[in-house]
Amino acid sequence: MKPSILVTRAVFPDVIDHLARYFEVDSNQADEILDAAALKARLAGKAGVLANAADRIDASVIDGLPSLRAVCNMAVGYNNLDVPALTAAGILATNTPDVLTETTADFGWALLMATARRVTESEHFLRAGKWERWSYDMMVGMDVYGSTLGILGMGRIGQALARRAAGFGMQILYHNRSQLPAAVERTLGARYVSKDELLAQADHLLLVLPYSADSHHAIGEAELARMKPSATLINLARGGIVDDAALARALRERRLFAAGLDVFEGEPQVHPDLLTVPNVVLTPHIASASEKTRRAMAVLAADNLIAALDAGPCAGNPPSLLNPDVMASRRR
Ligand code: DGY
Repeated sequence: MKPSILVTRAVFPDVIDHLARYFEVDSNQADEILDAAALKARLAGKAGVLANAADRIDASVIDGLPSLRAVCNMAVGYNNLDVPALTAAGILATNTPDVLTETTADFGWALLMATARRVTESEHFLRAGKWERWSYDMMVGMDVYGSTLGILGMGRIGQALARRAAGFGMQILYHNRSQLPAAVERTLGARYVSKDELLAQADHLLLVLPYSADSHHAIGEAELARMKPSATLINLARGGIVDDAALARALRERRLFAAGLDVFEGEPQVHPDLLTVPNVVLTPHIASASEKTRRAMAVLAADNLIAALDAGPCAGNPPSLLNPDVMASRRR
């Protein structure tokens, strides 16, 4: 008998067919939102789950589910998974790194440009029939070329963003938990600085650090106060890294020129104050949303699940395992 798995949200039908070669698949192709209780109920008797960044899978969800052996996230970020709790329960956890790096960096650049040059605000202005004549001070923005780019979080996506800055003649500063090797810094043309210096110097600050208890409100009232009033702030990472209420106040009071946000605290809810300030570009968590990349993420999440449940060509070796200790203890 094939093991049973759950796919928590709608995904490419051919990925479901691929999973069905190995498993009895309970797929939520109707794309209902499963709250914690519904998720727990659907997980009963399942050996694995292909989850989404919006599915919170913690100790309370996995409690009383002895058959569950693998939780495979279709996202590189995995703050929705309580990995220590999964590890303690002997459940493998995986994510989807690498396949979305370049697409996410492209989008970060789109958001930066749109924010600095007021692209969406200009379009709303035009569509509202407010464009009557050309004027020297209409929709003036901030230059990107020749400016100072700040990157907070210099992992794979941060580095891909930095590579793109070369064509814009930018000075690149970054702050990260650990400094990159000198050779990598040289290749990227990036200089390591303290977080305070990054905040003070950046003309455009990109946030690409993972969310954790330590990075909660990494950008709040105090950090915003250290930034230049002419600066822009771009959050590509996770809601909760920015204090959205404090950001909305800074934007309204013009203590910050503009912001571009793809992620929000409590998304899909958006702080109501952000919806009423004009100098913010808002997008619905789509940084990795290209045809090719979303498919690659789904395929990698499925391959992780197949391998984690000891099937397929990589049986026993999920390509992007987050808790190798579990695998090691299974082999003992
Ligand atoms: C990720 O992969 O972490 C993206 O934010 C999509 O959830």
